[in-house]
Amino acid sequence: MFICSRLVVVSVAAGLLSLVQGQNSDESVLIDPRTRLSSNITLPAPGSPILQSDFEIPPDCGETSYVGSGRLRGRRALITGGDSGIGRAVTIAFAREGADVVINYLPEEQSDADDVVSVIEATTNSSIYIIPGDLRNETFCKELVHNAADLLGGLDILINNAGYALASPNITSLTTESLTRTIETNVFAPVFLTRAAVPLMPPGSSIVFTASLIIESPSYLMADYGGSKAFLLTFAQSMAAGLMAEAGIRVNAVRPAITYTPFLSSQGQTAEGAMRIGAATPLGRVRHPVELVPQYMALVGNDPGYTTGGFS
Ligand SMILES: *[C@@H]1O[C@H](CO)[C@@H](O)[C@H](O)[C@H]1NC(C)=O
Ligand SMILES: *[C@@H]1O[C@H](CO)[C@@H](O)[C@H](O)[C@H]1NC(C)=O
Ligand SMILES: *[C@@H]1O[C@H](CO)[C@@H](O)[C@H](O)[C@H]1NC(C)=O
Ligand SMILES: *[C@@H]1O[C@H](CO)[C@@H](O)[C@H](O)[C@H]1NC(C)=O
Repeated sequence: MFICSRLVVVSVAAGLLSLVQGQNSDESVLIDPRTRLSSNITLPAPGSPILQSDFEIPPDCGETSYVGSGRLRGRRALITGGDSGIGRAVTIAFAREGADVVINYLPEEQSDADDVVSVIEATTNSSIYIIPGDLRNETFCKELVHNAADLLGGLDILINNAGYALASPNITSLTTESLTRTIETNVFAPVFLTRAAVPLMPPGSSIVFTASLIIESPSYLMADYGGSKAFLLTFAQSMAAGLMAEAGIRVNAVRPAITYTPFLSSQGQTAEGAMRIGAATPLGRVRHPVELVPQYMALVGNDPGYTTGGFS
């Protein structure tokens, strides 16, 4: 599987290079959003880890479609969960926009991280560094931030994106192990990372948390996950209030609705279930990760500048 996925990426990346370079940027082509990306999705069987390369129809993370225009040239970003799903789309887009990036991911997801490196190296002049490790470890979180800043020559974007969820049919079947992992990954780690990063970040820097729309329609099956995302939203708002005044740092949270990612499988979702939820949205399909990029871009770029404590 490892070798296979690398080969696929190399060929994708070669096609992509011509796409990126051959783009006629004078034209803005209209595309119907309902049919732009596949509404037909498949999910690998639940298990751990779930990789991008396990998908029959891979989630679109912008590998062949995202074209940058130098909007983040010179910026330095640390992105957790940058190997797959939303984090992968954000990583590819940031690098295409000229940012140098460090991604963190779990060691068992190495092949997905290698894919991202191949895609970025084949299609950008941005630097990408990979630092695997489990964010539940406080010491590791601190080292990750400092190592990222050393590799990048500084740090001005932190994307707290990595998350964990495991559906549990009811409160009596929620295990302490799963609850602990959810809270340590989704709550403690972003706090550890933010605490380590802020002293290194110059004014104009941005921190973004990946929260979730689950906050507005809580699910009994994902009660601990929903609670952890509600924490992130409030925490982001608190940080925004203090860090702008104190350090000129913008802090925001993105609240994605259901998105086609390996995360769906690992939390116990089925393709049928996900397609049913997607069908009830205005576009009539689940969102692909690349379709979240504009939200993150707006919150880290210099163009809008003002938004802080807001939720995209
Ligand atoms: C959806 O994709 C699966 C897997 O590739 C395929 O077997 C199925 O025919 C597709 N369904 C539709 C409606 O396109
Ligand atoms: C990378 O840099 C080289 C040399 O400056 C340049 O010719 C090339 O277009 C750049 N590639 C991309 C994808 O920006
Ligand atoms: C936590 O991370 C530190 C630094 O990377 C490492 O030395 C230590 O062994 C880790 N602890 C555990 C329990 O994995
Ligand atoms: C909770 O879920 C477990 C595991 O599916 C099941 O055995 C148990 O009957 C459920 N309890 C209630 C009160 O529904």
